[in-house]
Amino acid sequence: KTEVIKIDQNNMDTEALERAAAIIRDGGLVAFPTETVYGLGADALSAEASKKIYAAKGRPSDNPLIVHVAEFSDMEKIAQEMPEEAKKLADAFWPGPLTMIVRKNDKVPYETTGGMDTVAVRMPNHPVALELIRRSGGYIAAPSANTSGKPSPTLAEHVAFDMDGRIPMILDGGPVGIGIESTIVDLTEDIPMILRPGYITPKMLEKVIGEVKMDPGIIASDSLQKPKAPGMKYKHYAPKADLILVDGEEEKVVAKINALAKEAVLLGKKVGIIGTDETIDRYPEGEVVSIGARSDEDAIAKHLYKLLRDFDEKEVDIIYSESFATPRIGQAIMNRLLKAAGHQVITV
Ligand code: TXA
Ligand code: MG
Repeated sequence: KTEVIKIDQNNMDTEALERAAAIIRDGGLVAFPTETVYGLGADALSAEASKKIYAAKGRPSDNPLIVHVAEFSDMEKIAQEMPEEAKKLADAFWPGPLTMIVRKNDKVPYETTGGMDTVAVRMPNHPVALELIRRSGGYIAAPSANTSGKPSPTLAEHVAFDMDGRIPMILDGGPVGIGIESTIVDLTEDIPMILRPGYITPKMLEKVIGEVKMDPGIIASDSLQKPKAPGMKYKHYAPKADLILVDGEEEKVVAKINALAKEAVLLGKKVGIIGTDETIDRYPEGEVVSIGARSDEDAIAKHLYKLLRDFDEKEVDIIYSESFATPRIGQAIMNRLLKAAGHQVITV
């Protein structure tokens, strides 16, 4: 049985945090909130503890974990060398939704890095996470706290659904703030390379460190170009139902989704539709949900995974979604949606 403890980030129950930290120091697992998604934490410097994460998630062992720290100086202690960009980016964005990849030293076991010689490090912007990291010894390895392949958890309830009985404790800090995982930037390349788009955009990074590249492997819809972050190659974030994106001008998208929904309903299928506040009244057929106002990118990011999970519970057979290539974080949102859809896109 998994213990779920509510914790108020403005008035933290230090006794509960201390118990959670004790579990991690003893080599166990605790799920905790961050500003992006919930993490499944273990002592990052213990090979045995890291292995437990892979087992609890059903995660392939070649998919490395992110090491969470509470101080920049703790990153320096596990890196073989610190590229000059690291300090600049940390000053600009830490604590925050940015993960940096550097070469690791032998303090970090290969179990934590999926066999790689590099390590991904992030300082989360959440008081519960930071306090837990400090009390646990400074280094918490934490992937998103979902079963491998499912959408990342944005509520403690999602974690409980996936992890109940598999881990001793979940710290419930309420809904997360951002809702999609951190931006990952690889600083071991000549030109820093974004391996996973997120809330911190290429433009924001470029203002601080100059030119950055985007990993070509995450843009390609085929499997010819492998993404550099092992986790980005898996079909991921996926709801149980088939998800199909419809892209184009609003009027045409609504008409196409309605035509597809009607056809599917006639075939006896249960249909889900993801629209926006602006369009939901125009879908007469299916389980219709709004992801938020199209102009509100933050709301779209925040609701995406919950919507996908809710459709699992409604047991729909097929989901049609509008696409959300919004100006600032649309790249990150579309990256997740395209993966959830297995790149099934209809352009109208
Ligand atoms: O926002 C986040 O980053 C959340 C919260 C909990 O902090 N964590 C998260 O972790 O999304 P996870 O394990 O679900 O995703 C980590 C991604 C994977 O795609 C993994 O392959 C990649 O980071 N990664 C980790 N270490 C790497 C490394 N050394 N080289 C390349 N990719 C790496
Ligand atoms: Mg994940």
